[in-house]
Amino acid sequence: MAELNTKPTKKRETFSTGLAVFFATLGSAVGLGNIWKFPYIVGSNGGGAFLLIYFICVIFVGIPVMVCELYIGRKTRSNAVGAFKKLRPGTAWKGIGGMGVAAAFLIMFFYSDVSGWVYSYVFKSITGKLNGVTPNTAKVVFETTSSGAILPIVWQGIVFIVVAAILIAGVKNGIERITKTLLPILFILIIICDIRAFTLPGARDGLKFLYNIDFTKVNGGVILAALGLAFFKLSLGMGTMITYGSYFTEDNNLLHTPIKVALSDVVVSLLAGMAIFPVVFTFKMEPSSGSGLLFTTIPLVFSKLPLGNLLLASFFILTAIAATTAMISLVEVPVAYFSEEKGMSRRNAVIFTVIIMFIFGTLATLSVNSSSFIGNIKILGYGFFDLFDKTSSNILLPIGGLLIAIFVGYFIKKDDLKNELMNNGKLNSAVKFDLFYFIIRYISPILLIIVFLSGLGIIKL
Ligand code: PHE
Repeated sequence: MAELNTKPTKKRETFSTGLAVFFATLGSAVGLGNIWKFPYIVGSNGGGAFLLIYFICVIFVGIPVMVCELYIGRKTRSNAVGAFKKLRPGTAWKGIGGMGVAAAFLIMFFYSDVSGWVYSYVFKSITGKLNGVTPNTAKVVFETTSSGAILPIVWQGIVFIVVAAILIAGVKNGIERITKTLLPILFILIIICDIRAFTLPGARDGLKFLYNIDFTKVNGGVILAALGLAFFKLSLGMGTMITYGSYFTEDNNLLHTPIKVALSDVVVSLLAGMAIFPVVFTFKMEPSSGSGLLFTTIPLVFSKLPLGNLLLASFFILTAIAATTAMISLVEVPVAYFSEEKGMSRRNAVIFTVIIMFIFGTLATLSVNSSSFIGNIKILGYGFFDLFDKTSSNILLPIGGLLIAIFVGYFIKKDDLKNELMNNGKLNSAVKFDLFYFIIRYISPILLIIVFLSGLGIIKL
């Protein structure tokens, strides 16, 4: 262990308080995943039965893996690659961090595209372009927004400029300030949307769809989708929580924060689902209509409401905020890596990262138009957008999570782990630690392996 970081490092920033830690972490978790992905994945995988499986994945895999990542980050105070180098110098474990950096790029390629649609809907709603939309016109607006050749790329570029500006401002002045100010407002706005949705005639059917438990739709692929969603939702398996954990305060309770974050995140997802499905059923739309669901339903909720435009604009502004707080955590993974491992200044690391993300991100954007040249390129049967999405959510994140669970469960000394998670004896959480330790050694890895093999069709559930 003689190599344990003896070279003087630049002073690292940290978050300033427990509340800041909570909001930053929740800001990473809450994102398009809750408002865009969650409703349409639930919609296309059988509603309530899927939800149940999703909760099991969150409790037995998501929360324990988040504890592991936060442990790795805070213990080493390093980026995703550097952290493994400090814990196990000279071994291949740092490859997990490398995979994480790669996953951050893949996710951002398509995430920035969808965020661009959201930003453009903010603009459209403010300028009244969504006034009085009907189910049909809403579809047309969505198609023109997502499948043009120039505008979607311009909006994607704007997204990257905003993200870069926040990250260049730093951990405290950028990430902490943005998340702490804006997340509470997002929460209030979703509740207002729910109240409106509950008073629609299709509310009953919508809620029934969300909570009705129908196991006939469940198969290995559905379970893998639930696990993939849990990882994507909680920003796991790719070093985001390692990187954020490295900015945590010393007194933060690393066993409690993941539980609080996961619970709040599920609440936001359910609130988003409860706002969207009543509209889907009221306007007789297809609940499994895919990634356009959010964009073709939400404008309809508001179109009939007094001050509807104002609310509509606020909804998309807040979705944009959710997307942005998640993106800053995604981009921070390579930024921390490039600045700490490759000696770049923070500013240059941000600029370098977003330029690469933007260039490849345009491939995802242009692939949405199925009649374009790029839209016709298929790799393993997927266009670029779906390829980036599926390989990251369903493959890289669960594999990353599995390796992280094995690393912490079997390659870290139990006493070291316990000491860190109990804040050197300051916390009285020995029982919780034992439970966590059991789950991370015996339950999470086994579940991950089974689900993964069945999703790939290697074993039949
Ligand atoms: N959790 C974010 C969301 O739900 C996405 C994300 C994935 C962020 C992975 C960071 C890392 O939208």
